[in-house]
Amino acid sequence: MFSLPLRDGAQLRPLETWHAAEFAAHMDRAREHIRPWVGAAFVTDDLDGARGTLSRYAERQAADGARLYGIWLDGTLVGGVMFTDFDAAYGSCEIGCWLEPAAEGHGLITQACGTLLDWAFTDRGVHRAEWHCRADNQRSAAVAQRLGMTLEGVQRQSWPFDGTRHDKQTWAVLAPEWRTHRQ
Ligand SMILES: CC(C)(COP(=O)(O)OP(=O)(O)OC[C@H]1O[C@@H](n2cnc3c(N)ncnc32)[C@H](O)[C@@H]1OP(=O)(O)O)[C@@H](O)C(=O)NCCC(=O)NCCS
Repeated sequence: MFSLPLRDGAQLRPLETWHAAEFAAHMDRAREHIRPWVGAAFVTDDLDGARGTLSRYAERQAADGARLYGIWLDGTLVGGVMFTDFDAAYGSCEIGCWLEPAAEGHGLITQACGTLLDWAFTDRGVHRAEWHCRADNQRSAAVAQRLGMTLEGVQRQSWPFDGTRHDKQTWAVLAPEWRTHRQ
């Protein structure tokens, strides 16, 4: 369907319910890599689970809420970016991302998130975009920094994983800051 070129020949496209089999196969390559760092509901084990994730996003997109986009590299789905939350009336959103290991280190996530932020701030008049990550997720925090976000705070022990409660960082960028960052 529609796609936007990213660097290294990669493409950003809507990730929709009909991609369930492709998404499930991708999840087999990504699962253990992303499990510590993303919401538990996103890490599915089979085709039904993959379809459930894509359907949930489709329903929320229909209500002008969350949205999901995949990144294809050499024709293979390797990860994606999303609005985990989107509230136009409130003027705020939260973005997230993930990649399978082979696609790390190309700058694809920073570029794709830039596209989401352009749309949110320019087309939709959002004022504030947030980024939440585990405090020890250095690759994720590095993306937030590359996007010109500011670390606003740490929620202590608010991210349970594998028997430990980890701290969670909140990063954010405001509309005027994004415009300056993009110049
Ligand atoms: C977080 C995650 C998506 C970041 O992926 P990433 O590849 O590091 O991020 P980007 O796509 O922005 O790429 C940046 C890397 O590409 C390199 N790069 C190459 N060309 C680049 C370019 N033109 N522009 C920017 N970076 C470029 C950068 O140097 C950097 O690599 P380095 O960290 O080894 O120096 C990935 O580590 C991941 O999926 N982790 C597990 C899941 C997760 O944590 N999700 C986020 C939850 S909050």
